[in-house]
Amino acid sequence: MIIAITNLKGGVGKSTITQNLAVCLAHMGYKVCIVDTDENQNSMSWNGARDEDLPNITVVGAVEQKGFSKAVKSLHQDYEIVLVDGTPSLSAMTTSIIVNANLIIIPLRPSAQDFRTMDKFLSRYNDAVGMKGEIPAYFLLNEYDERKIIHRGIKTTLEETYDIPFLKIQIGSRTIYNEASVEGLGVYEATGDNTDKARQEMINLTNEVLETASVLNLVG
Ligand SMILES: Nc1ncnc2c1ncn2[C@@H]1O[C@H](COP(=O)(O)OP(=O)(O)OP(=O)(O)O)[C@@H](O)[C@H]1O
Ligand SMILES: [Mg+2]
Repeated sequence: MIIAITNLKGGVGKSTITQNLAVCLAHMGYKVCIVDTDENQNSMSWNGARDEDLPNITVVGAVEQKGFSKAVKSLHQDYEIVLVDGTPSLSAMTTSIIVNANLIIIPLRPSAQDFRTMDKFLSRYNDAVGMKGEIPAYFLLNEYDERKIIHRGIKTTLEETYDIPFLKIQIGSRTIYNEASVEGLGVYEATGDNTDKARQEMINLTNEVLETASVLNLVG
């Protein structure tokens, strides 16, 4: 299964979600790799900081559109789950990332800026669907606080504006996401405390993604 975590907006949590999904999946025993399509190579650097004793996660850089499809398909022969960490650039690469995925996760924060760039991203998504046919895609709210009226308002506006469904899980704003990333860890590894909210969120996210993929017949 090839899962793209993508959105044209920068700083929405694409790399954070990709790395944390990879870590949880690896600890569950899945053979998982990351394709880093961002020129800044955030996931490559993250992997460079990872301790050798931790479960190995292969991270491959692929910033050129040429050869991208071939590279992803070839990795998919060796890995059960290929996670594509999307680029925020407006290049044609975004369409290739979507076309080559079985499932798209679109992280976004409940902010007016993230909302405003969504039309551009979804126009790429619709181009890709026109080329390939149906590609299941889900919004994932990041740095979301259900208690804030403004956050709930933006979520409602997104629901009323677009046909894209939301994953049920929402990710809170928590410093551990940043701290873990700097050390090449997922939050699952940064704390063994099962009551930790970030750890719970990432376990729930991973389970929801696997269940969604199962319902869509993408696994097994
Ligand atoms: N839920 C969260 N809580 C707190 N900090 C977060 C959260 N998600 C992401 N961050 C932080 O926000 C910053 C941007 O996140 P990240 O790099 O994952 O976004 P991105 O979409 O990959 O950005 P880019 O488009 O630049 O590649 C990082 O410093 C990250 O640690
Ligand atoms: Mg990134």
